[in-house]
Amino acid sequence: MNKKLVVGNWKMNLTVPESTVLVEKLKRELAKEKHVDVVICPSYLDIYPASKELAGSNVALGAQDLFYEEEGAFTGAVSPVALSHFVKYAIVGHSERRMHFGETDKVVAKKAAAAVAHDIVPIICVGETLHEKEDGLGKVVVMSQLETALSYLTAAEIAEAVVAYEPIWAIGTGHICKPEDAEKMAMNIRVLVKALYGEKASNEVRVLYGGSVTDENTAQFAKLKAVNGVLVGGASLDHYKFSQIVKAFDSAKVEKVHIPEKKTKPKAKKK
Ligand code: PGA
Repeated sequence: MNKKLVVGNWKMNLTVPESTVLVEKLKRELAKEKHVDVVICPSYLDIYPASKELAGSNVALGAQDLFYEEEGAFTGAVSPVALSHFVKYAIVGHSERRMHFGETDKVVAKKAAAAVAHDIVPIICVGETLHEKEDGLGKVVVMSQLETALSYLTAAEIAEAVVAYEPIWAIGTGHICKPEDAEKMAMNIRVLVKALYGEKASNEVRVLYGGSVTDENTAQFAKLKAVNGVLVGGASLDHYKFSQIVKAFDSAKVEKVHIPEKKTKPKAKKK
């Protein structure tokens, strides 16, 4: 069974010298954590120096995004070919990319496929807004984002991928999703994956929760079964907080969950 996974998303923070200091601290602090996969996603500029520092360590590198084309006239974009030499993971479809850069589900699907094509594990983000949640549409929105995002991947590729459930109202707000609701959504994600791609993919795909995770609330998420880890923003910029989060998952049990079949609505009876 896959190990739990803790991912730090540094977003648009830290200069190269600042990031070098944080990378060195994390490398030292997390030298013994062997039962959990740890990934940090610094800015593009920091990736190259961080890759030198982290070679042979427990901490893997991820990109915060990538473009779906390999090369050419795409000013400002970063190629998956270039990234594949340095990163093992890439976040795709983060809500901030969707919101500020107009990324659609279709673009996210292309990015996920481009990552996989270059041996980069996509961390595919999905999540509903506060309005959608209040209107009772959370599940519908997340399922629709996910179905499109996965549409270019095979069952075997999905088994290796990561899906991060990040309710937008919980990101950077200090309001976490109730752990039981995160577990429920993670189960919904697995039920959909099972219906579309089969048992193996639904068991093996790693599902993370993200949104205001800190060292103080992380234990509640480490206990969940359908959730296999966390995607951490703000708290990942603090080496102590991030290390505490990693340690909580390092000692967490990995358990197999029973994934029910997707319920199909009974057809209306003909009169
Ligand atoms: P946050 O961000 O932990 O600062 O809420 C999470 C994310 O955006 O991935």
